[in-house]
Amino acid sequence: MNQNKIIILMIVIPQFLSQEMRRKDCVCDLKNTDPAFPENKLRKVENAVSRCTGTITSEKMLESDRLVLGLRQRISQLDDNVKTLEKEDDRNVYGAVSLRIIDLELAEIQDLLDKLNKTTRNFQQLSIETKTQLKNMKDTMVELEKFDNMQVIKKERENQRIKRDLEQCQNDLKPTPPTPTISPEKGHCGLGKIVSVSGPKTYSLTVYGTSYTFGAWGRDANPAPGDENKYWLVVLSSSNVFGHFVRQYNSMSTILLGVGPTDTYISRSNPTTNTIQGPNMVMYGNALYYNCYNTLNVCKFNMTTRTVSTVALPKDAGYNSVYPFAHIGTTYSYTDMDFSTDEFGVYAIYATTSNFGNVVISKVETSTPPLLGQTWSTTLHKRTITNTFMVCSVLYATRYLDKDTEEIFYSYDTKTNTERYDLRIHIKKMQTNIQFLNYDPRDHLLYVYSDAYILTYEIMFQ
Ligand SMILES: *[C@@H]1O[C@H](CO)[C@@H](O)[C@H](O)[C@H]1NC(C)=O
Ligand SMILES: *[C@@H]1O[C@H](CO)[C@@H](O)[C@H](O)[C@H]1NC(C)=O
Repeated sequence: MNQNKIIILMIVIPQFLSQEMRRKDCVCDLKNTDPAFPENKLRKVENAVSRCTGTITSEKMLESDRLVLGLRQRISQLDDNVKTLEKEDDRNVYGAVSLRIIDLELAEIQDLLDKLNKTTRNFQQLSIETKTQLKNMKDTMVELEKFDNMQVIKKERENQRIKRDLEQCQNDLKPTPPTPTISPEKGHCGLGKIVSVSGPKTYSLTVYGTSYTFGAWGRDANPAPGDENKYWLVVLSSSNVFGHFVRQYNSMSTILLGVGPTDTYISRSNPTTNTIQGPNMVMYGNALYYNCYNTLNVCKFNMTTRTVSTVALPKDAGYNSVYPFAHIGTTYSYTDMDFSTDEFGVYAIYATTSNFGNVVISKVETSTPPLLGQTWSTTLHKRTITNTFMVCSVLYATRYLDKDTEEIFYSYDTKTNTERYDLRIHIKKMQTNIQFLNYDPRDHLLYVYSDAYILTYEIMFQ
């Protein structure tokens, strides 16, 4: 008990002890001049502290950081677009169309600003509430200390301070930790960072001719034994939107010359259920992954059994040209869903309304039916980029600079969740538009379908 407390004990001693012992009647009155310790108040403060740390999470801070980063990018993009428009303003239809695009872009930026405003206001409200809460806690603690005759709280605080000083001292003694060896763009499979793209290495018109401007081609990134040298080609033969069979060749030279193809049909006509929709598909493990007709489904076509299994993207994901690839001059229709292969497997790249039309990356588990695995949200607006590809679990995005040049300007590292907008890697084009772009982890080449031509480019790593 407290030595400072004045304790008055009034013991009623019975007159006849022997009698008393028999009766076992003993009264003890304890009087404490100190008021009782308000334990419930301390508990209240403790609860308030844990609530307080719960509401201010770093995640909430990240949300506004992400909004600001995306917004900054959109505004500089808009600025570029306006400059382009001013340069090309010859009072023709093109100018009017571009103006409309800028109008839409402005409306979306306003939308983002409003969201940011709302988030900021929420933060302000939160910080006012927190300030009041902290003040209340402080007042209660001051009040509680009055009861602290044992100086328990005071000593405890002193202990904590000494402990902190000790930790600080220990930390100061430790050598500064080495900087992490993997920088965001350096890659995670032994490849250095991408420094340039050279080529084209090969360049050829498909047997279909120049009117089929949408298509895809490449090699299986994870081929069955014996299929290592096979190449596949899908041309969107109906309205530049739909395809219904996969053409395969036995070697690079046969695909370039267009001889000896084997066709595998997904459906007999198009468009119908399971028809390929849009050009951004990949082949992996002898199955074709693509967006199928009029749905937000990822379709997996098993080339051996010729059967299709599906998995749906999130309900607010864009399809049917809601979030296509685009630039100021062109929108690439039905390119909402992009598929990519890298050293680690297959990914779906799309955009959702809840991520403000910005790019979302989902790992696609290649089971039957396929499943969506880990998912990452970026600040990269889908309609300001022209394509994407993945290398060593890093997403890269391209944008249109002019008819001769496409630029890899953006990366998102899914291992560290860091994104960059400052890459300046150029791809020299032979035709104006790129409809399909994918990376083959086996030969480190980029496979490109560009206005009816099929090309490869070599990625140069540091
Ligand atoms: C943010 O929202 C408040 C309240 O709706 C409004 O008064 C203010 O003008 C807004 N600020 C901006 C920059 O939009
Ligand atoms: C295709 O189906 C067969 C038979 O069910 C199966 O053995 C094979 O693994 C499947 N291929 C893919 C890529 O799922």
